[in-house]
Amino acid sequence: MWEFNESFNQYFLAVDIFDKLRKSMGPIGQYYKEGHGYFAFPKLEGEIKPWMTFRGKEVLTWSLNNYLGLANHPEVRKADAEGAAQYGMAYPMGARMMSGQTKLHEELEAKLAAFVGKPAAYLLNYGYQGMVSIIDALVSRNDVVVYDSESHACIIDGLRLFPGKRFVYAHNDMDSLRKQLIHATRLAEKTGGGILVITEGVFGMAGDLGNLKDIAALKKEFSFRLLVDDAHGFGTMGKTGAGTAEHFGVEDEVDILFSTFAKSGAGIGAFVAAEEDIVMYLAYNLRSQIFAKSLPMPMVVGALKRLEIMQTQPQLKENLWTIVNALQKGLKEVGLDIGKTESPVTPVYMKGNVPEATNMVFDLRENYSIFCSIVVYPVIPKGQILLRLIPTAVHTLDDVKLTINAFAECAQKLKEGKYYAEKMSQI
Ligand SMILES: Cc1ncc(COP(=O)(O)O)c(C=O)c1O
Repeated sequence: MWEFNESFNQYFLAVDIFDKLRKSMGPIGQYYKEGHGYFAFPKLEGEIKPWMTFRGKEVLTWSLNNYLGLANHPEVRKADAEGAAQYGMAYPMGARMMSGQTKLHEELEAKLAAFVGKPAAYLLNYGYQGMVSIIDALVSRNDVVVYDSESHACIIDGLRLFPGKRFVYAHNDMDSLRKQLIHATRLAEKTGGGILVITEGVFGMAGDLGNLKDIAALKKEFSFRLLVDDAHGFGTMGKTGAGTAEHFGVEDEVDILFSTFAKSGAGIGAFVAAEEDIVMYLAYNLRSQIFAKSLPMPMVVGALKRLEIMQTQPQLKENLWTIVNALQKGLKEVGLDIGKTESPVTPVYMKGNVPEATNMVFDLRENYSIFCSIVVYPVIPKGQILLRLIPTAVHTLDDVKLTINAFAECAQKLKEGKYYAEKMSQI
């Protein structure tokens, strides 16, 4: 209600926005008083490697997407430093379209395209913003989008900008996708639009693979274009590490491939790859790139080095998979539930409330020196606990052994109710 306050000669709104925010700090923010700096916003210090420092103590870290161990690879560190020394962090100034184009940006794009088996590629400053913008640029009011229900936030948020109709299919469920494609086709016939199907290559929470082979097969029955977010598959999946499409042998059926450098690439930035004219369309229409500064040169120089290492040092991917297989096998052998993962992403599912989950993670960190990510309600259903482990090429089999023992003991304590509490304790 509007109220006129005579003494101040002003109108006051009944609700103050800040008061509203303070009352509801958001799904994770609601726990900030108990968990800030520990469960959320923890400070991992020291060089990026499996053993890092947390609150002054060495911990074995399983929460960094440094799949190939490139973050601290000596050749990468050297290239990053040389790139910064030669060009500074500012060059080039301006957006790509205006004044931010360089030969090295173009060289990196050509090399990325060749690596993933597409005619062309275009760099993005950040994966998240890039994907939001890709969806915004690709589809308009008359088009129809069909997407997986467990799609990453960047896909969901891209769809927030989309004014047309969308249909969500049950996660990786091909019957559901088929049904939604029937609806989408009927609608597109009426509107005169096209259909875009969006999925991830590797689902980053559960580690299962987008069903790319079956999705691609549906192209025989339906007319649609396929956009794949392969953030976790790039560098880890497929014979050469080109990603999940290579793993399934469906490179040609994936029309638009997206990945970030923030995971295997251990850097920042991202790219999108497709046919040449589509990439050119995106270059001229991606608002996140047209209205933002070009990726700084040290990032480009660093990404070129990372790509070269991915292609010339296959032992990194082999090491990664040795650790992945040992970790996943070991966790299963001690009776833990790792769901349907087929990728390095290793979820461990347990049952318990939020306070129990935090007490267990506290025990893991303080008494077993294991640092991993924790996901609880409301991100996942009530009563479930998800601890996510990310193995890398630079972990060792001793690290794996230590972790499996720690998880087996902590899971047993959880079962026995030793972590039970009604309320989260303050750290
Ligand atoms: C599936 C997926 N897509 C996109 C992104 C965003 O990438 P970036 O960190 O480069 O913004 C992430 C990273 O969290 C991701 O997991």
